[in-house]
Amino acid sequence: MSDSVLSIDDVHLSFPIFRGEVHALNRVTLEIKRGEIVGVVGESGSGKSVTAMLAMRLLPEGSYHIHSGRVNLLGEDILNASEKQMRQWRGARVAMIFQEPMTALNPTRRIGKQMTEVIRQHQSLSRDAAKQKAISLLEEMQIPDAKEVMSRYPFELSGGMRQRVMIALAFSCEPELIIADEPTTALDVTVQLQVLRLLKHKARASGTSVLFISHDMAVVSQLCDRVYVMYAGSVIESGETQTLIHHPVHPYSIGLLKCAPE
Ligand SMILES: Nc1ncnc2c1ncn2[C@@H]1O[C@H](COP(=O)(O)OP(=O)(O)O)[C@@H](O)[C@H]1O
Ligand SMILES: [Mg+2]
Repeated sequence: MSDSVLSIDDVHLSFPIFRGEVHALNRVTLEIKRGEIVGVVGESGSGKSVTAMLAMRLLPEGSYHIHSGRVNLLGEDILNASEKQMRQWRGARVAMIFQEPMTALNPTRRIGKQMTEVIRQHQSLSRDAAKQKAISLLEEMQIPDAKEVMSRYPFELSGGMRQRVMIALAFSCEPELIIADEPTTALDVTVQLQVLRLLKHKARASGTSVLFISHDMAVVSQLCDRVYVMYAGSVIESGETQTLIHHPVHPYSIGLLKCAPE
């Protein structure tokens, strides 16, 4: 079996618009190996979210056109996989964490109910065992008083705590890959760092690969083994994080590093 979890190979993708098209991805190539934490960094509009959505085939069918390239997720050619197959993978073998957890969490249901439900969708556990698993996942995310948090509604938690719940939820199905699209951008810097540390620790402990998207080079360099720098729909530079931040080659990467605080 190949040790590649996700490979995007030379993808050229456009969105047809009124009298023309937006070339959102220009021959993008990117790979994530088993257990790797890989960053995609670039300014707003550079194609990061389109890349993430494509990897899970979440772009609305018919809204985009692929001119060339291949996408392989967990050994499967997903550009030609059935929607049924994709649905089985999303949330089971691949999980996604978004910037605003309120969009992913159901505001009208208690945290514990939502978590045990998701766990039971993917694993044949009794209600009690699923509940125990949810509590221990919350504890791993260092949520104080995890048992108590189970009975809370999402809006009763702070932004940082909600994002920890989201991460716990993403790991609950023991996915092979987690795609996190600007998961900490809405949080203040100290909370961001705590959340990133927890994400990294849990990913390492479970051998889960992570595709981490951010506009912030400082955040990416804290977390990732390797980085891809995107600009205007193209990967303009990639490499080991340490090499890239100390010896960036492309002027745009140098600019991103200058923006990043130490
Ligand atoms: N559904 C769409 N229709 C047309 N253009 C789109 C669509 N989705 C994204 N784009 C364009 O694709 C480019 C990349 O967007 P995106 O991946 O969201 O950027 P970001 O790096 O900020 O996540 C942008 O120019 C955006 O306007
Ligand atoms: Mg985006």
